[in-house]
Amino acid sequence: MLKKLLVTTVIMVFVACLGSVALAEQAVLSVSDCVKCHNEQPAQIAANGASHKTEIDCQECHEGHRPSVENNIPNCNDCHEGSKHYEVEVECLSCHNPHQPLNVRLEGEQKAVCVSCHQGPNKQMIANPSKHATFACNLCHADTHGNIPECTDCHEPHSESMTQANCATCHQAHKPLDLTYPANTASQLCAACHDSVFATLSVSKAKHSQIACATCHTTKHKTVPECSDCHGKPHAESMHERFPKCGQCHNVAHDLNNWPDKKKK
Ligand code: HEC
Ligand code: HEC
Ligand code: HEC
Ligand code: HEC
Ligand code: HEC
Ligand code: HEC
Ligand code: HEC
Ligand code: HEC
Ligand code: HEC
Ligand code: HEC
Ligand code: HEC
Ligand code: HEC
Repeated sequence: MLKKLLVTTVIMVFVACLGSVALAEQAVLSVSDCVKCHNEQPAQIAANGASHKTEIDCQECHEGHRPSVENNIPNCNDCHEGSKHYEVEVECLSCHNPHQPLNVRLEGEQKAVCVSCHQGPNKQMIANPSKHATFACNLCHADTHGNIPECTDCHEPHSESMTQANCATCHQAHKPLDLTYPANTASQLCAACHDSVFATLSVSKAKHSQIACATCHTTKHKTVPECSDCHGKPHAESMHERFPKCGQCHNVAHDLNNWPDKKKK
């Protein structure tokens, strides 16, 4: 169709040179003409056209015009091919306005399209099943592309002193049930749920009270250490054989050497 128009132009210019003005009304449209009748699209392209402003013009997408050309609306795939993203089954125009292609709208429930570019998060969720893994990506990453929500938009912290900044110490959004934490985790964070253990350890006079929860209960939630992990077998072998449990003499780790019953006597 473009070719046809070019041929017409050439003929027209030729005829015009001959001095005929009768054909002037069939003047061919050029890009600078569009704005004379269309306000919205040229304004959108000028403001947010991205590569559709800098790499191409109106007529590379819209070849010809009504009434001589019935359909001048292009398919995205005329120019975009060779990526998983360009083969998604969701209608391109539901997210992209071609005149402002990077101002992406995210409506409905989206997952497959996101995964066409971001495989990592989805792989993580499949490998670590949780309720989060059943949600659409944009339940959390809503409204604008790249938006990252706060956990506290949807959940209460475990205690009043805990804030959004603490959540990532123990949780990752795409595998929230994989509860791991670093060695420097503050014991106050554990205290949100284990307040009685925290209280017992805090008032203990033994040296364990100087040690953080995460130093003994390392890395993964519910890990319980053996005394011998740190102390080996400190006493004579014969004694350990007679009294196989350290607790028989030392009480519990959080309250070493403190036997409440003895104290009462
Ligand atoms: C003289 C006014 C005028 C000019 C100049 C003009 N258009 Fe249009 N255009 C119209 C009108 C009127 C319609 C609606 C036609 C219809 O609905 O039949 C239209 C419709 C369109 C459509 C929608 C077609 C469809 O099938 O829905 C596109 C795309 C379009 N124009 C692109 C352009 C481009 C690109 C240019 C510049 C190269 C341009 N127009 C220049 C008047 C103009
Ligand atoms: C990257 C290709 C592309 C470029 C560049 C482009 N358009 Fe479009 N345009 C489209 C597509 C695709 C549609 C159909 C959108 C839809 O159906 O939602 C469209 C629709 C239109 C319409 C019809 C709008 C309607 O509501 O029916 C007009 C008018 C239009 N474009 C004008 C222009 C003008 C003027 C320019 C240059 C300033 C331009 N376009 C640049 C792809 C393009
Ligand atoms: C006439 C060719 C053509 C058509 C049709 C076309 N595009 Fe493009 N588009 C380009 C070119 C050229 C670029 C810049 C190079 C690239 O990214 O491939 C581009 C870039 C883009 C970008 C990235 C913009 C940026 O600046 O990074 C998006 C998003 C986009 N196109 C979406 C679409 C969508 C959606 C459609 C269909 C509505 C479409 N394109 C139709 C030619 C086209
Ligand atoms: C669910 C919404 C959604 C749908 C549907 C969608 N896209 Fe995209 N697209 C995006 C997002 C989000 C980006 C990333 C934008 C950014 O980088 O800021 C993007 C980026 C692009 C880009 C530029 C980056 C690149 O990888 O080249 C092009 C081109 C593109 N899309 C074309 C298409 C085409 C063609 C279709 C239809 C087959 C389509 N898109 C369907 C959301 C969508
Ligand atoms: C065409 C490819 C493409 C599509 C489709 C796409 N993204 Fe992106 N996304 C990108 C690119 C490129 C970036 C910016 C680079 C980066 O920070 O990793 C990005 C950034 C992000 C970020 C911010 C990352 C950060 O570290 O700040 C989030 C969150 C995100 N995308 C989520 C989504 C969701 C949810 C969807 C589906 C609705 C989606 N993306 C669709 C390409 C895409
Ligand atoms: C329950 C809410 C939620 C869901 C569902 C979710 N995310 Fe996220 N996502 C987040 C949060 C919060 C972050 C910030 C990092 C963190 O806290 O672990 C994030 C980070 C990201 C990032 C940037 C960092 C990274 O890991 O690469 C991308 C990209 C991303 N998400 C894409 C996705 C995609 C794609 C999906 C769907 C397959 C998805 N997300 C589902 C909440 C969610
Ligand atoms: C957009 C809302 C939203 C955001 C943001 C969000 N979640 Fe959730 N999360 C939910 C919903 C809804 C459930 C399911 C609740 C239920 O069924 O009781 C859930 C469940 C969970 C679960 C239990 C999972 C299971 O399978 O039982 C954990 C743990 C969790 N979220 C932690 C987090 C953390 C940590 C963050 C931030 C990184 C976060 N969530 C961000 C909505 C959200
Ligand atoms: C010190 C580690 C730690 C921190 C910090 C932490 N969590 Fe948790 N969270 C856990 C543990 C452990 C569980 C599992 C409890 C169980 O097994 O019942 C859990 C469970 C959850 C659950 C699912 C069960 C429930 O209570 O509904 C949600 C939701 C949750 N956390 C959200 C958050 C949010 C939001 C933050 C930040 C404000 C946060 N967590 C900070 C350790 C932590
Ligand atoms: C959101 C609440 C929550 C947080 C925060 C939390 N826990 Fe727990 N923890 C629990 C629940 C619930 C249980 C299971 C209780 C039961 O089985 O009686 C548990 C059990 C344990 C157990 C016992 C495992 C067993 O075999 O009996 C240890 C050890 C433990 N947590 C250590 C920690 C440490 C260390 C932290 C801080 C890094 C922490 N917890 C943070 C809720 C939490
Ligand atoms: C993660 C390592 C670790 C584990 C596990 C551990 N301890 Fe300790 N323990 C220590 C450290 C460190 C000290 C302080 C040593 C010092 O300062 O001289 C200590 C001190 C002690 C002391 C001396 C107390 C005092 O106040 O002088 C006793 C007794 C003891 N541990 C017994 C135990 C018993 C019994 C268990 C198992 C129930 C246990 N420990 C588990 C690291 C550990
Ligand atoms: C010195 C190492 C050490 C420290 C520090 C420590 N624990 Fe423990 N914890 C243990 C050991 C060992 C056990 C197994 C029971 C025993 O032998 O005393 C245990 C048992 C537990 C249990 C399960 C049984 C119970 O008593 O409820 C929980 C929950 C627990 N610890 C939480 C915590 C929390 C929370 C902190 C920090 C406030 C903490 N621990 C500090 C070593 C430690
Ligand atoms: C039969 C009782 C008994 C048993 C069983 C026992 N201990 Fe002891 N332990 C003692 C006594 C008594 C002391 C010395 C107390 C003192 O000096 O205050 C002691 C001291 C210690 C000390 C402190 C040493 C120092 O140099 O300060 C550690 C650590 C210790 N025991 C660890 C263990 C561990 C680990 C086990 C189990 C493998 C264990 N004990 C089993 C009675 C016992």
